[in-house]
Amino acid sequence: MRLPAPRIAPSILSADFACLGDAVAQVAPAADLLHVDVMDGHFVPNLTIGPPVVKSLRRHTDLYLDCHLMITDPADYLEAFRKAGADGCTVHVEVDRTGELVEQMRGLGLDVGLAVNPETPLDDAVPWLDRIDLLLLMTVHPGFGGQSFIADVMPKVRQARRLIDEQGLNVAIQVDGGIDERTAPVAAAAGASVFVAGNAVFGTDDPRRAAERIRDAAAAA
Ligand code: DX5
Ligand code: ZN
Repeated sequence: MRLPAPRIAPSILSADFACLGDAVAQVAPAADLLHVDVMDGHFVPNLTIGPPVVKSLRRHTDLYLDCHLMITDPADYLEAFRKAGADGCTVHVEVDRTGELVEQMRGLGLDVGLAVNPETPLDDAVPWLDRIDLLLLMTVHPGFGGQSFIADVMPKVRQARRLIDEQGLNVAIQVDGGIDERTAPVAAAAGASVFVAGNAVFGTDDPRRAAERIRDAAAAA
């Protein structure tokens, strides 16, 4: 199995929201994407940020803005995220109406991501694999940063990698939750290529160096 080079997506969820511009500037040299966790207090039991913050971030960085929408009604907000400057949005397969959401994202010129929770079977996402750009396999139960990596998701990562390769699809496999220097290589060996890391990056004194170390660890897998 020949894997694409690892890409690192620091999650601003673990950054200081009062100094987001500085946090992003600090990590930018080591980041390929910036992961923005949007939570609505309904799909997940937590509230975070929305399009106004994406709009502000857009003014501070050229990084790819990767918006992970942990919300029950993404259809109502996709256009606002696009207008705010999102490059890609990821919706959860658990909210249903996936076909309509994929079409809406394409129509808006967004890259299309589909997320799958740890307990959701990969089969629920398989019908959409040829229409998406990114498959996000959650390695924690979504809602909070700083949780432990769920290694039981790895068979799903391997299965997704096999299906994507067999069908010759251009779909990135992203893992999100509990990713650090120790778990990134585990996910990389299973077939992941995009690594979201919040606490392991912004919870350190040197976020740039932390992101570089996670990339190196994944690349060495
Ligand atoms: C969790 C979010 C993650 C979170 C990851 O629901 O989707 O993106 O920021 O945080 P860490 O890396 O701290 O597990
Ligand atoms: Zn996320």
